[in-house]
Amino acid sequence: AGVTDNSGRIIVPSDYHVKYDGAQVFRVTVNNSKGRKRVNDLVDKGVVEKWRSNTTSIDIMAKADKLTAVKQYLEKAKLTYEVVLEDVQRAIDEENPDISEEELALLTGRKGHRMTFHKYHRMEDIHGYLDYLAQTYPQLVNITDIGRSLEGRPLKVIQIISGHPNAKRFWIDGGIHAREWITPATVTYILSELVENREAQDEYLKKIDFYILPIVNPDGYEYTHTNERLWRKNRRQGTTCTGTDLNRNWGFHWGGVGSSKEQCQQIYAGSGPFSEPETQAVSKFILANNAKMKAFVTFHSYGQYILYPWGYSKRVPQDYADLDRVGRAAAEAMRLTGGGAYTVGNSAQLLYPAAGASDDWAKGVAKIKYAYTIELRDKGKYGFLLPASNILPVGKESLAAVKAIASEIYKGK
Ligand code: ARG
Ligand code: ZN
Repeated sequence: AGVTDNSGRIIVPSDYHVKYDGAQVFRVTVNNSKGRKRVNDLVDKGVVEKWRSNTTSIDIMAKADKLTAVKQYLEKAKLTYEVVLEDVQRAIDEENPDISEEELALLTGRKGHRMTFHKYHRMEDIHGYLDYLAQTYPQLVNITDIGRSLEGRPLKVIQIISGHPNAKRFWIDGGIHAREWITPATVTYILSELVENREAQDEYLKKIDFYILPIVNPDGYEYTHTNERLWRKNRRQGTTCTGTDLNRNWGFHWGGVGSSKEQCQQIYAGSGPFSEPETQAVSKFILANNAKMKAFVTFHSYGQYILYPWGYSKRVPQDYADLDRVGRAAAEAMRLTGGGAYTVGNSAQLLYPAAGASDDWAKGVAKIKYAYTIELRDKGKYGFLLPASNILPVGKESLAAVKAIASEIYKGK
């Protein structure tokens, strides 16, 4: 179908996209370091792409022309695997419904924006909604352009100002990884509930100031809509490959384990700490506003985890018991919405060590006590290609998590 603009005109023909016909995702069971290394060799050589990994299994995507070779390799290495996603291109074609202009108008009630929680939107629609909120609720909502992406797109932080003296502050972001489409949608949903459904919220929630950035990586996000659905990094042009992993670029244990100096790797940490305008802008803004900032939640997908530092090593912060307890309260709140089961724990222990990520920086440098990475749905059936019908349920469970954390920081010193 290609990519259409707001009036339905095709602006990017479908053959412009990288195609994934016949590509599959495998879940490989790894119960020792040798098996893990075998799989990682395939990833490092670029034969397959890593989608997700934890202590017991690794999800890898293989394109059609590599399927047979990859299966043979795994069998020879005596590794057991199952196919979790049978046709990547079909999942891409089906994840985002085409909503007609008429339906869109009905869904939005012809308000001054195009946002719905029934499909994944382009950046323009999301930013249009932020502007609409700022115009409609000028007493409550403030927009700050905290900087620009490498390609010049604005980084728009929405501030929800409680007006409460000594309000605690809560940072929320999404879209640092381009292909994790559920995250800007979820963050925008949370924002909509905090602003447009404010009367329904508990009193404590109205006494907290929220700082919300729905798309940390707008260049990458747009690129996943126009060219390559599964792009992860930003669009930094290198000498050999394009893209810096913005979640390895932060100036705290930068360049350590779980990041790479190789431009062609998905976990390329960049040429130096904060080499990228996106991480630079966000970190500067947070440091300028971190007084009374008590919570930092960065949304990713997928796997259903609530993760706390450290990520650069398997050590935990000295107050980790607090992070664990509040993380568990958040997971329980998510479950009570009828939502998914989320596992809580230290990120390096539950998943893998990865240095230079934003959560560690938030905790270690910005000194924000409750710093979490939340990996949203699902557990692997669709992975990054989660159908848009999940936006509302995931939005609801994520709002429940935010509320659980907010109630804790409200009570706290
Ligand atoms: N999926 C995220 C990533 O790979 C997890 C980050 C968890 N935090 C950490 N500091 N390692 O970027
Ligand atoms: Zn991610």
